[in-house]
Amino acid sequence: PMVAFLNFEVLEDHGWALEDEDLFEKAADANLRSSDFGRFYVDPNDTLLEAAEKNGFAWPFACRGGACTNCAVAVVEGEMPSPASHILPPELTEKGIRLSCIAAPVSDDAKIVYNLKHLPEVSELLL
Ligand code: FES
Repeated sequence: PMVAFLNFEVLEDHGWALEDEDLFEKAADANLRSSDFGRFYVDPNDTLLEAAEKNGFAWPFACRGGACTNCAVAVVEGEMPSPASHILPPELTEKGIRLSCIAAPVSDDAKIVYNLKHLPEVSELLL
């Protein structure tokens, strides 16, 4: 799968929201740093976090086992199934929030906002 990614901190800086329909179009026009906005390919056996690291990106994590939410991302477009066992409450998984250390996209293309640990609903779960 090919993943387009965007740093959640950029949304905060620009006053954009996860729900914005044209979020990635706005990001493409905003001259962002290559660590904040770009694309990479996820190998079939890698988690999204592993794929980011293989591509040289330092995305947040701590436990690497679905127990802390430091690695949370929001799936804006595409399919990224959530494994059965993890700490996220259903309210967040219903909004497309996933843990990048234990999941990866399964659709050919996906749009992902990473660094979701700064979203208030996620940060209150941080361990
Ligand atoms: Fe802790 Fe992913 S790093 S849940």
